[in-house]
Amino acid sequence: MAISIRQLHPLFVAEVSGVDLSRPLGPETVSTINDAINTYAVLVFHGQSLDDDQLLALGRTFGSVAPPRNHRAGHRLQHAEIADISNLNVKNELRARDDHRRLDGLGNQLWHSDASFRPISGAISMLHAHVVPPAGGDTQFADLRAAYDALDDETKATIDGLSTEHSIFTSRGILGHTDYTESERAALPSVRHPLVRVHPGSGRKTLYMGSHASHIIDWPYPEGRLLLLDLTEHATDKRFVHSHQWQVGDLVMWDNRCTLHRGRRYDDAKYRRDLRRVTTQDMDSINDNPELVAAS
Ligand SMILES: [Fe+2]
Repeated sequence: MAISIRQLHPLFVAEVSGVDLSRPLGPETVSTINDAINTYAVLVFHGQSLDDDQLLALGRTFGSVAPPRNHRAGHRLQHAEIADISNLNVKNELRARDDHRRLDGLGNQLWHSDASFRPISGAISMLHAHVVPPAGGDTQFADLRAAYDALDDETKATIDGLSTEHSIFTSRGILGHTDYTESERAALPSVRHPLVRVHPGSGRKTLYMGSHASHIIDWPYPEGRLLLLDLTEHATDKRFVHSHQWQVGDLVMWDNRCTLHRGRRYDDAKYRRDLRRVTTQDMDSINDNPELVAAS
């Protein structure tokens, strides 16, 4: 069956059909998907059935897959490289309201780019839905290339060449969740990334920020904070945003180098939501934090 691609939003996002992601992909299929992600930034595949081995293999087809953060309560899934985007504890039960992992995960409902708090940040994320709630829990995406294009020339000149500081504890702190030990904090030091980048696959300029980014390097902190808040407000205007309503078997791929995303509320005390994610590393970011990359 031939691959077909249908654009879902005027600026980005496409639905891809005619490919079974559970099977090893041939070079032509990989090339078609890479071209599509470079064009549309977010790809939606319906009706996919992958076990964790197959999800990890899919991730490795598109790059080097780094493990997500460690959590105090341990990891529910077999593979360390698969991020557990669920509301379930290691016993496969709904997490308690005050569960540390739950409170941490609420930070994913802020606009962010996966692993932007890492010395080597995230490139392509692949999120697969095993169980979805009957209402809520959508994931929204914002197109940062289109948002960059829509900036006025003065703003483009202002932000050219700036760097931002990113930390996982910034996004968690925004929600007032600060319960992390010194060793947990020491394991994830702040990193720097450019605020404006050229997206390698498309050659287009793009913003790069999100809720892990706190401020602008070498600017007074509140001034840089305000600039980032303004840019985020601009970039998440509804003309740049697409909402994905999950169905079981959906697999959504997105490019963290040129999009933001956020999860939306759902009744996580009542309904199970089990999504699993792999994310490839953006090797173009390897020179952003040379001392941290060397130490890791
Ligand atoms: Fe995320």
